[in-house]
Amino acid sequence: MTLQTIKTTPYADQKPGTSGLRKRVTVYQQPNYVENYIQAIFDSLEGFAGQTLVIGGDGRYYNDVAIQKAIRIAAANGFGKVLVGQGGLLSTPAASHVIRHYKAFGGLVLSASHNPGGPEGDFGIKYNIGNGGPAPEKITDAVFDRTKVIDSYKTLDTPDIDLGKIGTQQIGDMVVEVIDPVTDYAALMETLFDFDAIRALFKSGFTMTFDAMNAVTGPYAKAIIEGILGAPAGTVINGVPSPSFNDGHPDPNLVYCKDMYDLLMTPEGPDFGAASDGDGDRNLIIGKNRFVTPSDSLALLAANAHLAPGYKGGIAGIARSMPTSAAADRVAEKLGIEMHETPTGWKFFGNLLDAGRVTICGEESAGTGSDHVREKDGLWAVLLWLNILAVRKQGVDEIVREHWATYGRNYYTRHDYEEVDSAIANALVDDLRGRLSSLPGQVIDGLEIAYADDFTYHDPVDGSTSAKQGIRIGFKDGSRIVLRLSGTGTVGATLRVYLERYEPADGQHNLDTQEALAPLISIIEKLAGIQKRTGRNEPSVIT
Ligand code: G1P
Ligand code: ZN
Repeated sequence: MTLQTIKTTPYADQKPGTSGLRKRVTVYQQPNYVENYIQAIFDSLEGFAGQTLVIGGDGRYYNDVAIQKAIRIAAANGFGKVLVGQGGLLSTPAASHVIRHYKAFGGLVLSASHNPGGPEGDFGIKYNIGNGGPAPEKITDAVFDRTKVIDSYKTLDTPDIDLGKIGTQQIGDMVVEVIDPVTDYAALMETLFDFDAIRALFKSGFTMTFDAMNAVTGPYAKAIIEGILGAPAGTVINGVPSPSFNDGHPDPNLVYCKDMYDLLMTPEGPDFGAASDGDGDRNLIIGKNRFVTPSDSLALLAANAHLAPGYKGGIAGIARSMPTSAAADRVAEKLGIEMHETPTGWKFFGNLLDAGRVTICGEESAGTGSDHVREKDGLWAVLLWLNILAVRKQGVDEIVREHWATYGRNYYTRHDYEEVDSAIANALVDDLRGRLSSLPGQVIDGLEIAYADDFTYHDPVDGSTSAKQGIRIGFKDGSRIVLRLSGTGTVGATLRVYLERYEPADGQHNLDTQEALAPLISIIEKLAGIQKRTGRNEPSVIT
């Protein structure tokens, strides 16, 4: 077993995005592409000699290859131990928990989240720090700088590690411990929720379906929902992780979970439907006859969290990403707790959670989580919903309606234009940005613009500043349009338009969402000319 220093040449495109470095598998398969990136990560860190590194992924195509490379490079760079999930699997929230639980130095999460898998699909690598959360921009910027000049990487000349066998193995001076990916995570969930109440709920005949989308949450959901909580076998569907997600698109939204949505809208359907994405950090919540938007779900979970043992003392504060609707703000106001608006991406919640200033965080993109880990957590959201349903003994629809009647309703939708020509998308955003200062005071279609800016975040904990985080156009009546470019796409540019309108507690709560937001949809077209400039007649995805 010899330590090798291998010469390499830099790639120009290894800039981490909203959530790690996501690229087509074919890009990752280029010579030394993985090696360069992982070595660049380690070169940007200090003080890990002899320490523990957690490695796990969502099981997608190329996970098995990349994980072996990562283990060798970790050993050659002087880590003392690698903790890896059996079969190379760890959901993103479970990886976060394992890092925290075993006080690891950090972790490598191998995933492209909800992006399609397989040889033609996407792959990704993300570095998480010792608090279990995604590395902050200070580190990801340093990694990118390093990738531009890297000229060698360290590895060990050694056979592949057997990841199927639980237990420890030795590679060079480093110990590799293969752990069960579910056990620690399930134990954590048991400390947070009233499992007895949820068991009783299932015993009483309550039915649910959980779609694991052929991705990593299958083993977790089966062990917890069917195993520990006693839901009938078959409650978890598509529960076996597949490298190509069975050729599906593991994004839990109303497009890719349409069948489940349709089922929930029928009298024969189950009482509750939920799904999680490729790496297990996103969630979809559908009650009988009621889809719960992620923004509403965040507000509802925050308002009801005290019903779960892990949060019975109340929550310290709430944080949401800027494009997420302001539904949670109203809950925070009522509870008299802190509310924070951060840029898109979970990494911006880490400081607030570490400082104890917020307990629950969420994003409109189907991400919700709490201070139990430093990632969003799909199954956590599902279990908290189950806990609330079990205690309140009401259905999802009733709970949602009561919430609106108390706080008002934030109608909300997101329109995505995917794989748009990057030059066109950038020009569109730049043009609008250039006109922002002239917008306040203008009246379009009867609505007066109150403010228009490009969101800059000032982190109240470490004082750092993140500029250009998305264009916000706010109206006098409280409506809002946000426009930003995705930082996770792998082909061309994805333009996201977020639309929101508030109806007070005694207002209209039964409108169709797209109809309720039609005036704003028409205004943004007038302001930005999205359809005209991209040549698209309609968004690729509406959530
Ligand atoms: C998207 C979501 C964002 C989420 C990220 C990672 O990023 O919008 O909320 O944190 O995926 O799951 P985007 O593609 O918009 O940059
Ligand atoms: Zn994900």
